[in-house]
This record gives sequence, C-alpha cells and structure tokens, in this order.
Amino acid sequence: MAELVVALDVGSAAAAERLLDAIPAARWVKVGSVLMGREGPALLARLRSRGLSIFLDLKWHDIPNTVAGAVSAARDAGVSMATVHAIGGARMMAAAAAEAGDLALVGVTVLTSHDAQSYDRALGRTGTELDMEVVRLAREAIDAGLRGIVCSPRELAVVRDVIGPGKHLVVPGIRGPGDVVGDQVRTATPAEAVANGATHLVVGRPIIASSDPRRAFDEMRRQLER
Ligand code: C5P
Repeated sequence: MAELVVALDVGSAAAAERLLDAIPAARWVKVGSVLMGREGPALLARLRSRGLSIFLDLKWHDIPNTVAGAVSAARDAGVSMATVHAIGGARMMAAAAAEAGDLALVGVTVLTSHDAQSYDRALGRTGTELDMEVVRLAREAIDAGLRGIVCSPRELAVVRDVIGPGKHLVVPGIRGPGDVVGDQVRTATPAEAVANGATHLVVGRPIIASSDPRRAFDEMRRQLER
C-alpha cells in the first residue's frame, strides 16, 4: 500500500513533536529545509527515536562530490528517502546514488513554481513543453540510478509509464474531497493518486492545519485503502 507522508511544515521541533503526539499512527514524515535549518540533525535523531521513517526534502543540486557527501551524511543520520534535482545532471545523480545504500534517492523534475516561460528563461532556451521536460528528466533520473522521482499528480500517469515498475513515485498536492486546495494548483485525492501509481503521498496542511490532525490523518489513510 502507498505510504502517507506527513509534511512537518512547522516552525520548530517542539511544534513537530506536538503534532506527532497527536498522530500516533504516522509512520513517515517529511522534513524540509526550513525545519532542518532551524533544528538540524538533532531533530532527525528525535524522529528516528519515535520509529518514524524520514523523507529529507532538501533538493540537493551541487557538484557531484558535494551531493555525494550530503547523501552520505543523510544516510548516516538514518534518513529513508531524500531528494536531488534531476537538472543537476547524470554525473551528479550517479555520484549521489553510489552513496545512497538503503536510502531511496528520488529526483525532482521541474519545480511546480515554474511555468514554461520562467523555465525557458532560467535555462536560456525557448519552446519547452513542461510535460515533456518532466518526462525527460524522469528518464535521466532513473537512468542515473535513482530509485524514483517526485512529480505532481497531473504527471503521474505519463511518468509512471516512463520510469517503469517498482520505482518510487512521490506526490505532493494531495487533497481529500472536502479539503481546502490552498495554493496547490494540480491536486488529486489520495485514491486518484494511488490509482495512477503514486507510492508516497506527501500531505501537509490538510493534516497539520486541521483542528483534529489525528482524524484528518486517519481519514486520509482510509481513503488510501479504498
Ligand atoms: O500543505 P500541502 O499538503 O500543500 O504540502 C505539501 C508539501 O509538499 C509541502 O511540504 C510542500 O512544500 C511540498 N511540495 C509541494 N509541491 C511541490 C513540491 C513539494 O507541495 N511541487
């Protein structure tokens, strides 16, 4: 069954711990650069001691040697899954994958904050079709030895066919039928995402901003099981 990953988009370790106390059934959490920057590796140790699997979403993009070192450090800290930017290139991804061991490295394709114009400008090219660019980078990531990719619900079906079976497909932008969409543009329900091949569903506000996080989490899990 797909995993439900709770995005710890909160301001402190104390807030993260309070949230997790309220969701005893959580098995996976996502730590991003804000919380990591505030709390550092000590937070990872605390999460591990709770028996949680950690998705460290720092989206590395640097020279191969540095990214390989970052992967190695994350692995030593007990991280289960982490992100690199596929645009960092085959050599960077291969160096990272060589250090990953049991850690599942997944590739970020095109940031959803880009539109075609901003992407073209950043890369000094013209005429990019973003969907095709996502597919191209997904292929690069898998060819370089990564275990999967991160994509939006909209790209799931096409990317799944490209990367083949047994790979991780990590998807944010998940909303239950009654949830507020917020700033997410391309959303899917848990059931839709799973039907399209998602293996890890990253959910933030529908759980962490809920007045009853436990109920929100349990309801999402029930929807996954359908
Ligand atoms: O609150 P929400 O469920 O929208 O949070 C989704 C999580 O996934 C957040 O941590 C957000 O930063 C992350 N994310 C995203 N869209 C992307 C990549 C990451 O929402 N394209």
